[in-house]
Amino acid sequence: MVDYKKVIEDAVDKIKNECKGKTIIALSGGVDSSVCAVIAHRAIGEDLVPIFVDTGFMREGEPERIMDVFGDMNLEVIDARDRFIEAVEGVSDPEEKRKIIGETFIRVFEEKAKEVGARYLIQGTIYPDRIESEGGIKSHHNVGGLPINIEFEGIVEPIADLYKDEVRIVARELGLPEEISERMPFPGPGLAVRIVGEVTREKLEVVKRANRIVEEELDEFGPWQAFAAVLEKGTGVKGDVRVHGWIIAVRAVESRDGMTASPVEMPWENLRRISSRIAAEIPDVARVVYDITPKPPATIEYE
Ligand code: XMP
Repeated sequence: MVDYKKVIEDAVDKIKNECKGKTIIALSGGVDSSVCAVIAHRAIGEDLVPIFVDTGFMREGEPERIMDVFGDMNLEVIDARDRFIEAVEGVSDPEEKRKIIGETFIRVFEEKAKEVGARYLIQGTIYPDRIESEGGIKSHHNVGGLPINIEFEGIVEPIADLYKDEVRIVARELGLPEEISERMPFPGPGLAVRIVGEVTREKLEVVKRANRIVEEELDEFGPWQAFAAVLEKGTGVKGDVRVHGWIIAVRAVESRDGMTASPVEMPWENLRRISSRIAAEIPDVARVVYDITPKPPATIEYE
């Protein structure tokens, strides 16, 4: 039986020992970085500089939601939306997209660090992120996507030995609100990995709205993870006219740690409701499909 109080104490000690002076932490709104932020705040208090980088690839309403929870920790929102979308413009290779996003994150962190005189960065990397990056499956933005020359004296990863379900236990132990401790995983590169191929402002808008609908409809269902991705365009008929509209894939999976996953056997009624809402509420969508592939062979995200 793991003693999670001890896990927290050890993480606090690690940060105290390794981070000297001002230290940056980037919050994403997810459970991993939130847990790190609370632990780091316990460890170094006012020396912690929490930021939220608004990449534009986050879910709708995310900056406001995160401000609600962490506003009293002096959280600063950095608006980098144009910068991120311009960085991935014209790029359709999934690994290249991930690397560019990871690198853009780091550059934003470095600039902030220079401004406040911080030499350390805390990251919420967890165990499966490390395994998958080391195994060459993909480059997680917070691991393999790091450019070689990082201008930090140290990158500290206080929960790098924990699995997702353990991070949730720690979050509860720390008294984080349920909307964070029980929140679905969300990838670091954000909605960019739920857009197959090139990221455009149009696809981003479509995928954002589709994700909101899926989250609203599946909230009470509580799958491990559920989301929407935008694929190619296909033919449809809307209001008696043939259209060439986006194909949206809906995915809902059960998993322990994201390393393997199985599709949720969703009631037909829920699927039908999601499909009609997406097609009705997003003008340029012509088709909605439900992904029934387990991992492996598919990954959970689309890129
Ligand atoms: P895949 O798509 O690899 O995803 O089957 C497994 C789990 O990890 C999440 N994911 C990420 N998390 N940075 C993260 O912090 C990333 O780059 C990243 N890519 C995927 C994904 O949402 C799923 O829960």
